[in-house]
Amino acid sequence: MSSLLIKNARYLGDSVDLLVVDGKVQSLSASINAPADAEIVDAAGKILFPSLIDVHTHLREPGYEWKETVATGLSSAAHGGFGAILCMANTDPVNDDAAVTEQILESARRSWPNGPRVHPIGAATVGLKGEELTRMSELKDAGCVAISNDGRPVGNTEIFRRMLEYAADLDLIVIDHCEDPYLAAKSHMNEGATSGVLGVKGQPDVAETIQASRSILLADYLGVPVHIAHVSAKRTVDIIAWGKSRGVKVTAETTPHYLTLDDTAVNGYNTLAKVNPPLRTPADVAAMREAVKTGVIDMLATDHAPHAAHEKETPFDEAPNGFTGMDLALTITYGLVREGVLTEADLIRLWATEPARVFNLPVNTFEPGAPADFFLFDPELEWQVTPETLYSKSHNTPWLGKSLKGRVSAHWIGGVKIV
Ligand code: DOR
Ligand code: ZN
Repeated sequence: MSSLLIKNARYLGDSVDLLVVDGKVQSLSASINAPADAEIVDAAGKILFPSLIDVHTHLREPGYEWKETVATGLSSAAHGGFGAILCMANTDPVNDDAAVTEQILESARRSWPNGPRVHPIGAATVGLKGEELTRMSELKDAGCVAISNDGRPVGNTEIFRRMLEYAADLDLIVIDHCEDPYLAAKSHMNEGATSGVLGVKGQPDVAETIQASRSILLADYLGVPVHIAHVSAKRTVDIIAWGKSRGVKVTAETTPHYLTLDDTAVNGYNTLAKVNPPLRTPADVAAMREAVKTGVIDMLATDHAPHAAHEKETPFDEAPNGFTGMDLALTITYGLVREGVLTEADLIRLWATEPARVFNLPVNTFEPGAPADFFLFDPELEWQVTPETLYSKSHNTPWLGKSLKGRVSAHWIGGVKIV
């Protein structure tokens, strides 16, 4: 029997001790006497969190290992407080085949045997081409926990309908990257005042809303669930709220960047602020904050999308979309707690319990018997975002060079210290 006692941590505003025995939570209370053999960790000044779940990451292996590997992605996850992550299928080869799923899982087992855990998301269509459905049951048997065409939105509504039906039969949720491919064609940022001034072709926010509406209407018609990825626009929040009010089984995520940045971050043709869906307007940011508070948006996810420095150091129109995200996610969203927008309980709901509920994954509730997946967050630690302080292989974030406050200081999964 091995036991671990975390002393004097802060949990939802109270000072607590946490006793872990054999990888499981034994008790959480104001004061616990140490068992004879216990390892004791003094956590004074640190905040205790259950390990977070990131339902939207891109790990780049196989095929794009210069951007990220499963090993470096999991390092970023471990240091960001994530105990489990879901990874998208836009690798090379695409994860449209059980052999690719198994390769990802094997890389994870080899590099981080004690976790964080990886749960691959299978491609919805072969090669993500949007033409032919994948063999979803084989993907599920190999370990995929959801289905998505993320990065390559599905234009054909008939194929999208079949995708929803087959996935639902297998109890797999479809995660929809909502973007009308015609309205969004060749766009590089949000369509609005800033794109007008910069002379960059913009993507109207309604490109997202139209596809989200399609998903919600089909989910309603078929009586199946659908999960809307990385919501960026107020209009989309409104249509999700409508779906929920009708009883449609629609869930949704947004990211730290849509809660904190608007399209003026692109000024100066800043490729580090180029992401898809694009950063929108201050009114959209306000709507996202409201939606995570009320639960119209169920959860947070990073859309961790690493790209190498040389790939972002190009003319704006040529740069790839995306931000590396897992190192920064909790620090950025803890900033919203400081601002009074969210509470620590909201963060636990949005980053852990709701992702676990929707994607049917284990989560640490700190009830006796729960998996001892948890970390300590030092809210006072000041750090600068540099290539050296990020564990992801890539450093493509609009926060690069900025000074931030708060970071994970230690992380345990199943009672084993991983960082
Ligand atoms: O910004 C993005 N990056 N959006 C996507 O849809 C794909 C992702 C990537 O894979 O880089
Ligand atoms: Zn994505």
